[in-house]
Amino acid sequence: MAINFNEKKKIFFLTTKNTEYQMKINEYDMLLHTYYGASVGKTDMSYLVREIDRGFSGNPYEGRDKRGISPDTLPFEYSTYGAGDFRVNAAGVILSNGSRTMDLRYKSYSVSEGKKELSGLPYVRGEEDNVQMLEIILEDKTANIEVCLTYGVFEEKDIITRSAMIKNNSDKPCQLTKAASMSMDLLHKKMDLIHFHGRHAMERQVERVQLTHDIHVVGSKRGTSSHHNNPFIILCDHDATENNGECYGFMLVYSGNHAEEIEVDQAGSIRVVSGIGSEGFSWLLNKDESFVTPEIIMAYSGNGLNELSYLYHRIIRENVCPKEFRDVKRPVLINNWEGTYFNFDEKSLFEIVDAGHEAGIEMFVLDDGWFGKRDDDNSGLGDWFVNDRKLPGGITKIAEHADSLGMKFGLWFEPEMVNEDSDLFRTHPDWALCDPDRKPVMGRNQLVLDMSRKEVVDYIFESMAKVIDSAKISYIKWDFNRSMANIYSNALPADRQGEVAHRFMLGTYDLLSRIRKNYPEIMMEGCSGGGGRFDAGILFYSPQIWCSDNSEAINRLKIQKGTGFGYPVSTMGSHVSASPNHQNGREVPFITRAIIAMSGTFGYELDPRKLSDEEKEEIKKEVSLFNRYYDLIQRGRYFRISNEKTEDYFTSWQFVSGDKSESLVSLVVTDVRANPEIPFIKLQGLDPEGEYVIDNIFTSVTNAPEEAGIKSKEEKDKIRYSGRALMNGGLALDPLYGVYPSVQIHLKRL
Ligand code: DGJ
Repeated sequence: MAINFNEKKKIFFLTTKNTEYQMKINEYDMLLHTYYGASVGKTDMSYLVREIDRGFSGNPYEGRDKRGISPDTLPFEYSTYGAGDFRVNAAGVILSNGSRTMDLRYKSYSVSEGKKELSGLPYVRGEEDNVQMLEIILEDKTANIEVCLTYGVFEEKDIITRSAMIKNNSDKPCQLTKAASMSMDLLHKKMDLIHFHGRHAMERQVERVQLTHDIHVVGSKRGTSSHHNNPFIILCDHDATENNGECYGFMLVYSGNHAEEIEVDQAGSIRVVSGIGSEGFSWLLNKDESFVTPEIIMAYSGNGLNELSYLYHRIIRENVCPKEFRDVKRPVLINNWEGTYFNFDEKSLFEIVDAGHEAGIEMFVLDDGWFGKRDDDNSGLGDWFVNDRKLPGGITKIAEHADSLGMKFGLWFEPEMVNEDSDLFRTHPDWALCDPDRKPVMGRNQLVLDMSRKEVVDYIFESMAKVIDSAKISYIKWDFNRSMANIYSNALPADRQGEVAHRFMLGTYDLLSRIRKNYPEIMMEGCSGGGGRFDAGILFYSPQIWCSDNSEAINRLKIQKGTGFGYPVSTMGSHVSASPNHQNGREVPFITRAIIAMSGTFGYELDPRKLSDEEKEEIKKEVSLFNRYYDLIQRGRYFRISNEKTEDYFTSWQFVSGDKSESLVSLVVTDVRANPEIPFIKLQGLDPEGEYVIDNIFTSVTNAPEEAGIKSKEEKDKIRYSGRALMNGGLALDPLYGVYPSVQIHLKRL
């Protein structure tokens, strides 16, 4: 049993293979969070809660003689505003009499088998796992409000999910002003925060800061999870490394506005609150209405960050992404965006398909510009019908051409958007989110559709379906190219405008579900100007997301590394693009670009008509190499090998197959040096008793000085390495020279 309740001591134990989570109901029926961490064999950990009078900390009325017991310092399982807890709270409400106090006390609990769905929202699936669920009801008897805290315990996978449902049982309406998915108090811990910030074309950069006595907020108010702050954070020991130390992960399964708030309180404990951001949010609850928060995925590792990442990779790949695409081989694609931008016609697309086919590529994806009046990014969005001038044969003809060559065909949409210059906007101007008394803030000259309205979702679904039905389409790239502002729905009353951003997400999730349900064989790739909506919510519908509009390989090292802290390689859309690169002008050798793009879903984003015969031959080799290592890369365990201290010189990472029989090690020198240090790495995750040989070396190095280049395969073949030696002693590579040199080494156990 993963969930146990000790009636006598009033303690809940949530137990996974290596972790334990405890809550205790105190004498005033307050639900306290008493422990999350490595297994402690169901020891009652509430001894960690020290009842000390801190001064100016109030006491519950019924316990006013016990000054050490204060809502100001108690570790609450779900914290609320107004009842003496002055730290950052998970929930806030305005009652009909204007009161803002919510004081929750324990009411009841129930345990059930199997993972439940979260109505209208993405969630962690559990059909194939042993999952137990716990529901704890807390109530505020005065306000007549109930909060149901829900926990999913994935015993084998060391994962616990949480969400909350807030219900108004009173006859009078109330307004929620905040409704986070969770709060948690980590008692007496001194920790660092790792978060993933960035900007368009430079997403998910790793930042690690020591927590101080303030409230650190990571979040987005852009209507999307955003390029700027990913809804995933890690708290870890000050001295935690990739392979040592305590780390906690909190990942929101949501794609809209969010906030992760971390506070170090007066007594030195840490509170984490995560969920929908409260700025701009409100939700009216009439009698018997409830609000369900998004789910959060929590994981704990006592063995450093690589292990924490592994726990997330496994649960995202196996339980969040649609299972239809989990184990099937996804095609290596060519996308025409950076090859042509808007400048294409039927003839040029046919040539691209032919050239891609010649190079061994398996799918052609037609990007932006095939519909409406769309010759640049100022018009046409919303008009999802083919542009006959550009494509007289429609989507059908180009898809048939790809099919005749044995290639699949994919198509780009940006369903949630509309241009002012479009038939859709001219017919339904009120369908755009827009404050009626103002000129809207524009982004890429487009407006955001009001997805909170069912008729808008219906219309977009139907117009997409017409196109999809007209051709054999295997893949949809689903884009979203601006931040949301003037978030106002013409269909909702004034006191419900604070609901629009979340209702928008519910409408988008509805549209995504309808496409999934009606076209289950079509694989989707999420996208938002690259990785502006790279989150577990989108991954529930599409098993991969275009990682960044920055396709330049050396910048990508950092973007993909940051992304990989929480999300598996199988979710990262990653392509080889032209050199010099279009985003930053950098020139990087073809093979280095391929080695980096292979640590993702792999494809090409260039004009294959401009490639030399030699380059086309190179692509053939790369595609066959990627296909050879497909399982290892997509399903193997991923390790970050280099660390911040070595990364000014090189970056290195590794995949190991589930049975440890093979491994793929990649290393890219980012700052090539004369007379350099040896690129030295310690491998991970191998079979210590196994004997490994180097089976293949793929390298960009062609001009290495004679005495120092990569050794020939024959020479390498002579060496046998024990797994123990590679992990403890390490691997000392030959120095690499030239422009951004790289090497990919395949190891095989004998
Ligand atoms: C942003 C995407 O990230 C690009 O790959 C491309 O699809 C453009 N949008 C098209 O407008």
